[in-house]
Amino acid sequence: MKTKVLMVCLGNICRSPLAEGVFRHLATNKNFTVDSAGTANYHNGAAPDVRSIAVARKNGIDISNLKARQLTNQDMDDFDHVLVMDEQNRLDALARCTTEMQRKKIALITTASGIDATHVPDPYYGDENDFEFVYELVYQCCSAWLAKQ
Ligand code: 4NP
Repeated sequence: MKTKVLMVCLGNICRSPLAEGVFRHLATNKNFTVDSAGTANYHNGAAPDVRSIAVARKNGIDISNLKARQLTNQDMDDFDHVLVMDEQNRLDALARCTTEMQRKKIALITTASGIDATHVPDPYYGDENDFEFVYELVYQCCSAWLAKQ
């Protein structure tokens, strides 16, 4: 059976769609599936931020077809690993959980990957360079996380 990974950020338009695209790219032909969601519902149904689409495309990854959705309690049963981008995402994801088994699935993507960074910073109010930084960081996280499995 495939291991199911869910990438989670706040809006599901900047960081987690990038993490989803990078993970899918790196995990091709491996035994994983990946999806993403946001702790908030502000952008439900929206495509990723144009800056996330652009930095992914620059690196040969197409995330333009993804659609934002909000994290649900059902996700916490459906996925094996819920990888969050920052501490607030972790707290908000924990708040969706109703069982200890669900809570145990949540981890900061940086910590779970053994990467020397505390979190993936929110680039929403930043510029292209911030999106470039997020891309590089989630790439490092995804490849290190996969290498540990
Ligand atoms: P994300 O970035 O959590 O990486 O998708 C954000 C997207 C939208 C907002 C904040 C962060 N917002 O406030 O609308």
